[in-house]
Amino acid sequence: MKGFEIFTAIEELDNESKYLIHKAKEAAHAAYAPYSKFHVGAAIILEDGTVVTGSNQENASYPLCMCAERVALYTVASQHAGQRIMKMAIVAHKKNHKELSAAASCGACRQVMAEFEERQHKPFEIVMHHTDNQWIKCHSASSLLPYVFTKGSLED
Ligand code: THU
Repeated sequence: MKGFEIFTAIEELDNESKYLIHKAKEAAHAAYAPYSKFHVGAAIILEDGTVVTGSNQENASYPLCMCAERVALYTVASQHAGQRIMKMAIVAHKKNHKELSAAASCGACRQVMAEFEERQHKPFEIVMHHTDNQWIKCHSASSLLPYVFTKGSLED
């Protein structure tokens, strides 16, 4: 199967993805983004159905800003250790804009997603808003980062 699918309307997505998108939109309300004014929300569903969310958190010292995806992923590791991640949805919008912006995860988040996937020995899906009401569903984090650097690279 190809690494990803494109959907041209949210209605075409499965119900779980739609629900996670809804939770990601809610999460984006908690973004703290006074510098970029770019509000991002991420929602992760675990194997037992628990949903964990995150939003981007910025800082006057810009390099300390943290992306929504990593806030959500590290919350899973800290509060739901051992639970498998099934799917993650990501949305973004500019401050005071109703319509969504493209929510392409940055390279750092893709790297972290890949390590979470390696930790659980099972892929998880990533649903991201593209442009013009299109949605991208990736079948695994590794498909977002080919030839990824992993802990295997550090072994003797
Ligand atoms: N941001 C995310 O939350 N996720 C990404 O994958 C890309 C960027 C945030 C970081 C920063 O607060 C703002 O968006 C602008 O880069």
